[in-house]
Amino acid sequence: MSQNKVTIGMLKDKKEKNQKITMLTAYDYPTARLVDEAGIDTILVGDSLGMVVLGYDSTVPVTMDEMLHHCRAVSRAVNRAFIIGDMPFMSYQAGIEEAIKNAGRFMKEAGCDSVKLEGGSEMAHVVEAIVRAGIPVCAHIGLTPQTATMLSGFKVQGKDAESARRLIQSAKDLENAGAFMIVMECIPDQLAKRITSELSIPTIGIGAGKHCDGQVLVYHDLVGLFERFTPKFVKQYINISPMIKEALLKYKEEVENGHFPGPEHTFVMQDEEAEKI
Ligand code: KIV
Repeated sequence: MSQNKVTIGMLKDKKEKNQKITMLTAYDYPTARLVDEAGIDTILVGDSLGMVVLGYDSTVPVTMDEMLHHCRAVSRAVNRAFIIGDMPFMSYQAGIEEAIKNAGRFMKEAGCDSVKLEGGSEMAHVVEAIVRAGIPVCAHIGLTPQTATMLSGFKVQGKDAESARRLIQSAKDLENAGAFMIVMECIPDQLAKRITSELSIPTIGIGAGKHCDGQVLVYHDLVGLFERFTPKFVKQYINISPMIKEALLKYKEEVENGHFPGPEHTFVMQDEEAEKI
């Protein structure tokens, strides 16, 4: 482990000192390097890669092999950030033994520091079993994209008092089960504030307002690389797609008109050697 590697203790410390925790997704070596060099605390190799990198319509089709492949690329790049591997749909729901084995693969085969799984109180026993096996688990409540169909689509969760109370109970059950951190997606500001104040583990918000202990965004949303749709909670810090397209068009034009490659990109041999060919 590198000397300045972010640890679970450091993340908990940040919550206690009221210092915000930063998290971003990354799915490949060059991006993970940039995110790590920017000093982001935690990198989530999210199953969102299914949509933003692999072109699926949802996160449901993502497989263990796809997740492990991307986690390996990320862990080869990272020195400091704490890496969380996202367990794909049906890798932890069918049985405890399978859940533990799959969670273990993220650590043993892909260099992750922990795993994340979606679900509330009903998943607490799975979290407990994986933690008991020695694998740190980050929980994920609110809008859980893997089961969005059950939630009637991609909607804000916990908007009425009854569903808000259920989410508070879920957060407490997951903390009691041993989760070291909890992602809260698309829930009202007041509810996120209440959960954050009632838990001793850090909360990370995405569409959950500013009172969470930290924030996460999908990298491709932040830099403008995913154009299919942009949720309300996304802030695009740069729109890199038009810049990339401009460069690609310029390349095409220069190849077609003979301006690329120029002499500075070309290898030459001595004239007398060339004449002997
Ligand atoms: O897969 C993912 O990127 C996530 C974040 C949106 C939290 O689960």
